[in-house]
Amino acid sequence: MKILLIGSGGRESAIAWKLEQSERVEKIYVAPGLGGVAGKVENIGIGVSAFDELLDFSKKENIDLVVVGPELPLVWGIRDKFEKEGIKVFGPRKREAALEGSKKFAKEFMDKYDIPTAKYETFTDAVKAKEFARTLRFPLVIKADGLCAGKGVIIAKDEEEALRAIDGILVHQLFGEEGKEIVIEEFLQGIEASLLCFASNNKLYPMESAKDYKRIFDGDEGPNTGGVGCYSPSQLFTDELKDIIEKDVLNKIEKGLEGEGMDFTGILFIGFMIDGNSPKVLEFNVRFGDPETEVILPRLKSDLADLFVKAVDGNLNKEDFQWEDIETVAVILTSAGYPGSYKKGEEIKGIDSLSDDIIVFYNGTLDRDGKLFTNGGRVLTLVAKAKTREEARAIIYKEIPRVNFNGMQYRGDIGK
Ligand code: AMP
Ligand code: GLY
Repeated sequence: MKILLIGSGGRESAIAWKLEQSERVEKIYVAPGLGGVAGKVENIGIGVSAFDELLDFSKKENIDLVVVGPELPLVWGIRDKFEKEGIKVFGPRKREAALEGSKKFAKEFMDKYDIPTAKYETFTDAVKAKEFARTLRFPLVIKADGLCAGKGVIIAKDEEEALRAIDGILVHQLFGEEGKEIVIEEFLQGIEASLLCFASNNKLYPMESAKDYKRIFDGDEGPNTGGVGCYSPSQLFTDELKDIIEKDVLNKIEKGLEGEGMDFTGILFIGFMIDGNSPKVLEFNVRFGDPETEVILPRLKSDLADLFVKAVDGNLNKEDFQWEDIETVAVILTSAGYPGSYKKGEEIKGIDSLSDDIIVFYNGTLDRDGKLFTNGGRVLTLVAKAKTREEARAIIYKEIPRVNFNGMQYRGDIGK
């Protein structure tokens, strides 16, 4: 089969790597493209939002399945458009993608179906929002409703910060249309963990769990990033907690999807705040996580192309998911300055000298004249797998110094 994979980051690099291992996959086209491609993978240079061009390409090349990495094309309705033309897409339609595209929609869904989450109110009016914020305990959390590239959530530690955030979003329109409404919610204590589920016709099939590191510096210091390290599984997910999550969260989500007359097929990524045995949902994403995908897919024994096709055709089973009993640790090499401004175009050396124990995924790189250059804030993701997380961690930190580029930075405490 021929697949068109949409996206260009470490997540898509991991999806392409896993799909390439499938005997039934003949070709993987990537739009716009990935670093380090060879074999069955080919970059086509079309942007993720150029739906007409992507559709023309899919028809011309007889694409059997489109797999969507990032949220934007899903929220904008890529599946709705493509399936009208008879092209299969792994990913939810616009209506279901609103579970990520609108925080208000997601909160109302959780409220209606009694899914545990932080208490909240929504506002379009800054005066009312401020009045409400003044009655709450701090810290509190203020979220722009729409997609803000990971920047739309503000944790306000006191009244002054809360009022500034409300003004910023509702009055000064920092996020434009995406911020014409806000959610104000209580701050939850606990530890964060992610659970990604395959979804097919509103039934959820949880994959292995993962723990993402969002802050740039060791010890969770410094600003938030897109994620600079990860490991799988998360030790928080004991059998007891998994049972609670199934009963209190997954079953209720399935019921909610049915109750709303939705039809969710794709990935539902659930971000949790976990306090003991009490899981609360922070957010939904309607796509694979980055960097979660880079630690989860190397543990999957099953054929990923098979899973995508079965999900889209509506005949997925629990037994289709086979996992390797190993642990994975990923460390992301970033450009100096990230998540602020950073330089691009630094030559990357040493990838060929990494041991075979390391899997390399390409977040932001550029191939030119047989050399590899940095082309993003997150540059490369290195993944090690071993019997235990400690072993995987030892391997990864022994190998990283073989790679270098000017300004290379990474956290030294992933998986500790
Ligand atoms: P979200 O995009 O809604 O997941 O928010 C981004 C990040 O903000 C989360 O990964 C958490 O670290 C933090 N966050 C969001 N909501 C809350 C909350 N209610 N309590 C504590 N932290 C939160
Ligand atoms: N790692 C968080 C995300 O993909 O949104």
